[in-house]
Amino acid sequence: QGYFTYDPGFVSTASCDSEITYIDGDQGILLHRGYPIDQLAEHSNYLELCYLLLNGELPSAAESETFVDTIKNHTMVHEQLRNFFQGFRRDAHPMAIMCGVTGALSAFYHDSLDIDNPEHRRITAHRLIAKMPTLAAMSYKYSLGQPFIYPRNDLSYAENFLHMMFATPCEEYKVSPTLAKAMDRIFLLHADHEQNASTSTVRLAGSTGANPFACIAAGIAALWGPSHGGANEAVLNMLDEIGSVDNIDKYIKKAKDKDDPFRIMGFGHRVYKNYDPRAKVMQQTCHEVLEELGVQDDPILEMAQALEKIALEDDYFVSKRLYPNVDFYSGIILKAIGIPVEMFTVIFATGRTPGWIAHWNEMISGPYKIGRPRQLYKGYAQRDYKTIDKR
Ligand code: CMC
Repeated sequence: QGYFTYDPGFVSTASCDSEITYIDGDQGILLHRGYPIDQLAEHSNYLELCYLLLNGELPSAAESETFVDTIKNHTMVHEQLRNFFQGFRRDAHPMAIMCGVTGALSAFYHDSLDIDNPEHRRITAHRLIAKMPTLAAMSYKYSLGQPFIYPRNDLSYAENFLHMMFATPCEEYKVSPTLAKAMDRIFLLHADHEQNASTSTVRLAGSTGANPFACIAAGIAALWGPSHGGANEAVLNMLDEIGSVDNIDKYIKKAKDKDDPFRIMGFGHRVYKNYDPRAKVMQQTCHEVLEELGVQDDPILEMAQALEKIALEDDYFVSKRLYPNVDFYSGIILKAIGIPVEMFTVIFATGRTPGWIAHWNEMISGPYKIGRPRQLYKGYAQRDYKTIDKR
């Protein structure tokens, strides 16, 4: 059998080396290419961060202009892809649609299979970053039965996404600068998070030499679960279920009960054993958005704040170092913007795309091996086949 390290959940296994993102979970530090996430959230924007993740350095003014133009150049999807949407039931979860249509892009761009060519890898990265908001908005419009809205390249990345989500052929959507900034921040705060489950999935799929669009589709599938990107959707569903501040104690008790599988969604993190630095920025953005929209005494926000306060002071949560994570506040912001709950994880996927593609590109550019974990076999020892009359 040989000797293997047994590490279920890869709690202490480093699967690769990487220069993209650094996390110190004990200190609550997150750096992209060395830059702290709070500085990026305050001074940068999503597309600049995409450039940084892909290229390793912040762009000059000229590089930034070229990059933004290039992304805008790729925002449309092939008209034939519309037919692909028609194959889904109207009530399909948008993440199911996203897994399918993103994988289908591999059938449209044959140059993407030439993974040893850095120029082709670069174009694939640009296509993915540009087309994800278009596909995301199409999946929403399809669920409503409304016509797809084409991208508008005179708008910023976040404004264009909100336009494709909310405009109709009969009516323009007036994008508020505060909401567009909040949307950009949500994308930015989700852009990368080193070797999380979906990024590791993208790397593992990519390590076989698979088509990059198909690898990103695999990442979307891994993101979907409630323990990962699906948590933002789960937070809102949980708050709905709790119903009122008066019921919080009952749910805190349930979360602490070893025999009850209930967990407070949006709390805890495999790596952060201190406050998630992204959650701090999200909390501030959340207040800005609610103020802009004039939302006062929002029962969901009230519950979220009460839950956060109680959990932060409760012995169980303190001793297990369970703090609110990025998904705790992002769902509340998205809901306030008017984005339906089923779209939350799709938005996470859109934001995470540059991280996935930067990691895939980093792996393919250097020496790498096919990912092939081993196992601890616990089944039968060898035994002889029994014919059916002897079983
Ligand atoms: N509520 C109540 N108890 C919890 C929670 C929670 N949200 N999270 C962890 N625990 C307890 C858990 O029961 C366990 O207790 P014990 O040691 O007595 O068995 C202990 O804390 C450690 O939990 P774990 O599941 O072993 O920790 P993990 O590192 O494997 O899991 C996690 C991390 C994020 C999956 C988990 O904290 C969780 O399920 N949180 C809720 C879902 C969530 O918010 N996910 C989003 C993660 S951040 C965004 C992303 O990266 O996608």
